[in-house]
Amino acid sequence: MPLALTDACSDDLKTAIQGLQVAFPRAGTGLDQDEEWVVVYHDGEWQKIRLHDYNDLFAVPGLYEKWVYDVLGCRSPQQVRSLLLPCLQEAGETPASLSVLDLGAGNGYVVGVLAEAGVNRFVGVDINPNAATAAERDRPGLYEDFIIDDLTDLSNEHASILDRHSFNCLTCVAALGFGDIPPEVFVEAYNRIDNGGWIVFTIKSDFLDDDDDRSGFSGLIRHMLQSNLLELVTRQSFEHRKSSDGNALIYDAFIGRKRCGFPVVISR
Ligand SMILES: C[S@@+](CC[C@H](N)C(=O)[O-])C[C@H]1O[C@@H](n2cnc3c(N)ncnc32)[C@H](O)[C@@H]1O
Repeated sequence: MPLALTDACSDDLKTAIQGLQVAFPRAGTGLDQDEEWVVVYHDGEWQKIRLHDYNDLFAVPGLYEKWVYDVLGCRSPQQVRSLLLPCLQEAGETPASLSVLDLGAGNGYVVGVLAEAGVNRFVGVDINPNAATAAERDRPGLYEDFIIDDLTDLSNEHASILDRHSFNCLTCVAALGFGDIPPEVFVEAYNRIDNGGWIVFTIKSDFLDDDDDRSGFSGLIRHMLQSNLLELVTRQSFEHRKSSDGNALIYDAFIGRKRCGFPVVISR
């Protein structure tokens, strides 16, 4: 099975990936990670789409899988799964015992990979209006609920949907920093996880640099660990994927256990 596909994918997604016509920028263009783009034939015309314009990206079935997973070789979801499973086993827990809040869910690639390992309860949160539709289109039935909203400014309706769930696992893969999920949103999601729950996330290793903490996550994670809000179970640096120029993009994966929540929600 090609890298991009998991058992949880719809047949339509598999067909869409095979039929895509995509042109990539020439290697050596020196694009920053936030500038990467492709040209794709969709709806009768060639369209230029930036990787971080998720609304446009998820509107084209299969483009995310073909580009990020097949061409750029993203392994983050598999990396997270292979770190989490032994931790669960060591703790005497099973994948089926998890109830997951998937923050920055996108079109559900991560939950597709976790579902293959036996995790079966997921709620997605994303800020991008196309994400919920794309997740249901590409991996139907995996999410019990999928909220499109800003966790720091939730509507009453969305807050009560989330309140109905009890979560013992937070996943947030390839979604922190880069103008994506800010620390305040991560903290809101973290506070929704039961004490003792699993906290699973990846972040670009550069964002953990204490001397240049533009994302705010270096200070936040250090505070969480030093103040015993989060107990680190394991951490690993790994190649998230290649850049458009073929260079390795290095991320850190964290698996931890929530020991207690933030007493007040931070704001910067
Ligand atoms: C690179 S995608 C990752 C999707 C998925 N986790 C995966 O690994 O395939 C990043 C996702 O984070 C979402 N995102 C960005 N800012 C967000 C926010 N403030 N709240 C929730 N989701 C956000 C984007 O819309 C996008 O779907």
